[in-house]
Amino acid sequence: MPNTIQALLADPQLLRIEADTLQKRLTPSLKTAAKQAWPEFQTRLQQVLPELLALYLELYGELFECSYYLEQLLKQLAKSAAVRPDYLRAEDAQPQQWHQDEHALGAACYVDLFAGNFQGLKTRIPYLKQTGINYLHLMPLFKAPEPNSDGGYAVSDYRSTMPKLGSMAELADLMHELHQQGIRPVLDFVFNHTSDEHRWAEKAKAGDPLYRDFYFFFTEAERDRYAPTLREIFPEIRRGSFTLEAKSGLWVWTTFNSFQWDLNYANPAVFNAMADEMLFLANQGASVLRLDALAFVWKQAGTNCENLPKAHTVIRAFNAVTRIAAPALQFKSEAIVHPDDVVKYIAPQECQLSYNPLLMALLWNSLATRKTRLLTESLQRRFAIDPQCSWVNYIRCHDDIGWTFDDQVAWQIGINPDHHRQFLNQFYTGRFPGSFASGVPFQLNPVTGDCRVAGMLSSLAGVEKAQAEQNSQHLDHALARIYLLNSIILSIGGLPLLYMGDELGIQNDYSFSQDPAKKDDSRWVNRVAVSDQDLAKAADSNHLSGRIYQQLQHLVKVRSQLPVLGRGRTDILWHANQHVFVYQRELRGQKVLCLVNFSEQVQACGDLPGNAWTDALSGLRIDGNHLTLTPYQVLWLVAR
Ligand code: GLC
Ligand code: GLC
Repeated sequence: MPNTIQALLADPQLLRIEADTLQKRLTPSLKTAAKQAWPEFQTRLQQVLPELLALYLELYGELFECSYYLEQLLKQLAKSAAVRPDYLRAEDAQPQQWHQDEHALGAACYVDLFAGNFQGLKTRIPYLKQTGINYLHLMPLFKAPEPNSDGGYAVSDYRSTMPKLGSMAELADLMHELHQQGIRPVLDFVFNHTSDEHRWAEKAKAGDPLYRDFYFFFTEAERDRYAPTLREIFPEIRRGSFTLEAKSGLWVWTTFNSFQWDLNYANPAVFNAMADEMLFLANQGASVLRLDALAFVWKQAGTNCENLPKAHTVIRAFNAVTRIAAPALQFKSEAIVHPDDVVKYIAPQECQLSYNPLLMALLWNSLATRKTRLLTESLQRRFAIDPQCSWVNYIRCHDDIGWTFDDQVAWQIGINPDHHRQFLNQFYTGRFPGSFASGVPFQLNPVTGDCRVAGMLSSLAGVEKAQAEQNSQHLDHALARIYLLNSIILSIGGLPLLYMGDELGIQNDYSFSQDPAKKDDSRWVNRVAVSDQDLAKAADSNHLSGRIYQQLQHLVKVRSQLPVLGRGRTDILWHANQHVFVYQRELRGQKVLCLVNFSEQVQACGDLPGNAWTDALSGLRIDGNHLTLTPYQVLWLVAR
């Protein structure tokens, strides 16, 4: 091993020696295992090491032990590559733009709520395939504190699973099976924090200085250097971002719940330890890791400690690690922050995939206001991303809806952003007169008045209310809204992500309020169980669930016949009618023009360029002159 990293950077020849020395240092059994994987590994090391080194130096270059930690990291990479299963190594060699395919369709579920356990999930593979799903996010399934673990987002051990779901070996087996069935498994990489029951946290509590440094243990004065500029994420649960640790009498950094301890990435031991956990998960079969709460991973006094430049460096360094040791692995960014910050995580060298929280929030906004200006203006600025990357477009997920649009864009079109957020919260919690929605408020901040909304798709879109009122016209409108939302995530460009249960129109589950471990977190209202009986309704067109499911299936089918809806470029178009949303997809001269009426009134759309169009959804010929859209109508127009 060379003594200085700079030397390596200066002379690429040394990289060769680096790889050779590394190989010599492996234990005999690993050497045998590594034999096959080694040539590929060495090539990739050669290619990516300069980049990894530069990033590592940026993070840790000033530390005396930097080269020691780097050597440790490289050994870990060699070991991980050596034990990578053959079927994953075969995937490593394939192109990785599968997420841009017109067939690509994702879903997210809690294993226990959707299928009981890992075995149960296997029996649901036919249903997933029938629905067209080929990307499946299995929500946290790791060992976690009981009974409250923030829905599993407080991990006590990244290498063990919750006993009720089955063992890690069963999970690996399930993921292998999913791969064989053409479904890419997605796991969470909850890397901003561990639970306070993780063995590192336990050691820190016991006073071990090595592990104290894995976290932030602050005196009151140290805490107060950071505290004033931080945003409160869960203000209903606990004010501030710190928790007093009883034994030490020190303050531990806890951005989320008190039992979720933020990791200290300024410590290279933390980076290395988490890189090891990450590669372990990759080798169990994960195709994608969802980088949970990634905006928070770097801290600097005097800032809000979100989206800091070094947070990007950490993620890019992890990305370089995967390109060396597990290249088929991709990252999905979970940055539910300002739109300008969301896009900064998206790059082939950072996160190839990203949730699209702007689209999500503004679709709901347009349904409430029946207007599309904010949606159009915002997306015109913030939809274009690197052509090798993809948005993950979703309508609902297991979390709340935060109204993360850009205040400046709102002001420009005459909307007061704060008042508007208040309106949206009122509207979606059903308190605004005439609202169709049945949602629940989440984390009302008593000081700022800030609040978010929780609820299942069908409840928020109006099905729940219409059924309670027994109003069939309202019910039709609610179904049309669901269809409209699905049509957009399936056609606007990116990987559409369904939230299991929504495809069947399952409504809010209010029983969480009876459960002491859940009652303080209203997101449980949209974490519903899906039974065999529920799934059986998919085929029943007389049942509401069947209607919702079959409408979705129709959209999926039509999309899969139009390659332009996969890889095509997206242009968000301005339209004179402010109730109509228009965008165009284009691929090598093939075009699809999508028009969506966000109101329950007929809307005039003027004349379209050219008049010979066919609506791919209905198969009908459409005359482009004096086009009108019926209430909530969606058109996918293809030139004849
Ligand atoms: C992410 C998860 C959310 C969790 C938080 C803290 O935002 O989606 O459920 O509460 O991270 O881990
Ligand atoms: C996320 C977001 C926050 C969200 C929370 C949990 O990481 O940044 O706005 O509400 O975690 O849902």
